[in-house]
Amino acid sequence: MTHLEVRELSPEFGVEVLGFDPKAPLDDATREQLRDLFDTRRLLLFRDIDLSHEEQARLCTMLIRKGEAETIEAMGSRESFISNKLDDGIAPFGRLQFHGDTMWADKPYQVLSLYGTDVQQPAAPTIFVDAVGAWKTLPEDLRRRAEGREVLQTAGAVRRGNMSGVLLTEVENPPSTVTRINYTHPRTGETVLHICEQMTRNVLGMSDAESEDLLTSLFAHLYQPERQVGHDWREGDLVVFDNIALQHSRARVSKEGPARTLRKVASPMPRLRPDQLPRWKAEAA
Ligand SMILES: [Fe+2]
Repeated sequence: MTHLEVRELSPEFGVEVLGFDPKAPLDDATREQLRDLFDTRRLLLFRDIDLSHEEQARLCTMLIRKGEAETIEAMGSRESFISNKLDDGIAPFGRLQFHGDTMWADKPYQVLSLYGTDVQQPAAPTIFVDAVGAWKTLPEDLRRRAEGREVLQTAGAVRRGNMSGVLLTEVENPPSTVTRINYTHPRTGETVLHICEQMTRNVLGMSDAESEDLLTSLFAHLYQPERQVGHDWREGDLVVFDNIALQHSRARVSKEGPARTLRKVASPMPRLRPDQLPRWKAEAA
């Protein structure tokens, strides 16, 4: 069995895994160990590795699909990059508020991975919070107000809180879905505080004022500074995280600044029409 060394990144979530070779075949015990770490620690960091698109996709699929063939068919065969330098880069500038990718889909990504292919310093960090831990520690009065309530999750158009420098996107026909605030994680069965500042429009069955008041109180708990863990990017870093249990945000990136190109692989991919895809507009004032 491959011997992996594991180091905690924070008491709540995240581990750095040392000794992993993405080119070597994986034995069953190592697969189990990585799946178990992914389910319990929610974020895996591998540093200084050389990783192809296919190897990245295979690792992601393996982490969420027990017993199934590790194929990349569900990931899309085209490579995509978060980048301020490539012409077709995703989210090429600005700041990103906290969100889970595709939270507006009926089946949001379970796994999201980013691999640093071109990273110059200083690179804007990605910042994570744990929405499972947030539900567990929610004060009793807030839990009573939130439990069983439904929210509308939508792509592209929510504006709230500190918008300074936020990347504004335009979506012709934004996809949306309705979910419980206390959301059951599809793989681990844990309860997730499933709202985010970027995509949760409102609480159903409440006035706008009541809805925003409840969401603001929940966000204050979820995004407390002590809950946030940043990752400072270096080239050759792979971060694989549970996109439902964790949310992420990003400090400001500019087109003129240091290169920051991260290859993104996620699963399962929702099927979208062209009019449901975002266009990057401008930074908010
Ligand atoms: Fe994202």
